[in-house]
Amino acid sequence: MIDLRSDTVTLPTKEMLESVLEARLGDDVSREDETVNTLEETAAKLLGKEAGLLVTSGTQGNLVSIMTHTTPGDEVYMEAESHVYYYEVGGLSAIAGVIPHLIPGNRGQIPPETLEEELRPPNIHFPNPRLVVIENTHNRAGGTVIPQENIKAIADISHDRGLSLHIDGARIFNAAVALNVDVAKLVEPADSITFCLSKGLSAPVGSVIVGSEEFIEKARKYRKMLGGGMRQAGIIAAPGLVALKTMIERLREDHENARILAENLTSIENLKVWPVETNIVIVDLANTGYQSTDFLQKLEQRGVRAVSFGKTLVRFTTHRMVSKEDVLQAFTIVASILESNN
Ligand SMILES: Cc1ncc(COP(=O)(O)O)c(C=O)c1O
Repeated sequence: MIDLRSDTVTLPTKEMLESVLEARLGDDVSREDETVNTLEETAAKLLGKEAGLLVTSGTQGNLVSIMTHTTPGDEVYMEAESHVYYYEVGGLSAIAGVIPHLIPGNRGQIPPETLEEELRPPNIHFPNPRLVVIENTHNRAGGTVIPQENIKAIADISHDRGLSLHIDGARIFNAAVALNVDVAKLVEPADSITFCLSKGLSAPVGSVIVGSEEFIEKARKYRKMLGGGMRQAGIIAAPGLVALKTMIERLREDHENARILAENLTSIENLKVWPVETNIVIVDLANTGYQSTDFLQKLEQRGVRAVSFGKTLVRFTTHRMVSKEDVLQAFTIVASILESNN
């Protein structure tokens, strides 16, 4: 099976599994797990922030960050298709109690002038605007990269108006690698970032929030409230450290495989292929006569898995466990299914 559903399907490497056996462990709720402490310090340093906090998932990292930046009833601005709004079970409203204010983006980017227009002035009738969330890379926009200039412009506007900026950087290293910039420089204007160890970086579990010492101290308490205070969490942190050491640069291979897949798919008549920037390829079947669910079923029968991104949209994601040969094989299968439907 060629599994292109997500980069979350990556399994830990042998080095990651071996690191667990050697990890120095302790009770992390009491901050006695040396491996967790090392991961948090390493992540903070890598992203140029004061402190880090290991969390169970990207979803928990975003929720803890939103809770830390806001109080219930506050308004949070985000791109209309952002993961925080679309895929995180409404936790931002159900648990953090905030009001999402959605801004339609341009391939995942919030145009600065649109943010200016959308930000509401203080008014007795309005919720308090408190936070802006951006996503880099942007999943539903097709793994698009939010460039430094946009982040800086969004941060400047947010800060001028007294709002903080959080980056859902589940795939921030894909963005940094694609842009060839230092990740710390890329996220420099943001007040907090969550990134995932468990996606393209191939670690089995975990995400990390980074920000100021003060922010992370407060976030630690919200993590505990949400049940994320773990004990010998070094068994998660150890593979995370291996991921940061060994998996960042190789994301380029995933990007290259995505580009090869997209380039080949473009040759199929009637198939619309979205522009590819990182490890995500989205195709639109609208002109092929297929809906995504029927197509995915056929695809799976032929040994390829992908996911639906809408009625006629299908997402393929490249990662460490698929090779160039695999993506070429996947292309051949997609082409044969679509050709037999003509
Ligand atoms: C952009 C983005 N943010 C956050 C998440 C949530 O991460 P997790 O699945 O670890 O909760 C994902 C997961 O796919 C994602 O793509």
